[in-house]
Amino acid sequence: MNLDEALGLISELPDFPEPGVVFRDLTPVFGDPKAFATVIDALAEAVGDVDQLAAVEARGFVLAAAVAYAKGVGVTLVRKAGKLPSVGGSVDYELEYGTATLELPADAIRPGERVAIVDDILATGGTVAATCSLLAEAGAEVRSVAVVLELASLGGRDLLGDVPLHVLKSV
Ligand code: PRP
Ligand code: ADE
Repeated sequence: MNLDEALGLISELPDFPEPGVVFRDLTPVFGDPKAFATVIDALAEAVGDVDQLAAVEARGFVLAAAVAYAKGVGVTLVRKAGKLPSVGGSVDYELEYGTATLELPADAIRPGERVAIVDDILATGGTVAATCSLLAEAGAEVRSVAVVLELASLGGRDLLGDVPLHVLKSV
């Protein structure tokens, strides 16, 4: 399956989780082995040469774990608040439909480590920007961000500064 076909499986649900938001759902991509493999291979190429990946709960975990396996690197799981026994950093952020807090596991990052962030969707950019700041505070060199889908009208890429952004599809 080629990448366009795989990305064509992403579905749209109007007015979820609140009126006015068009929810983009990767569930059909995750459920199709050929589409999933195509997307993982494309992300693995996009992130470049890094020491490890970082991903945000929950959908980012699915993608980043598979990309980490494909690249032979590890992955740091950035959690929503209250899940970690030992917190190495915390940041509040806004996303398209609310606010939340992210936490980095203690000792997840070695100073100077080259890290790429993998996620499913870049919307307002709040999630990825918050993750970049958590990683940078922990001493990482954030090398790139790779997402499957960019919702360009929300301007999320403007929050990333000079961190290279790789998107498989922009709508
Ligand atoms: C979604 C998505 C991204 C984020 C993008 O996660 O998986 O991480 O929103 O939005 P932003 O660019 O406006 O920050 P969500 O927080 O809904 O959590 P989930 O993965 O647990 O569904
Ligand atoms: N995360 C933030 N905005 C989103 C959207 N429109 N669809 C799916 N996930 C999202």
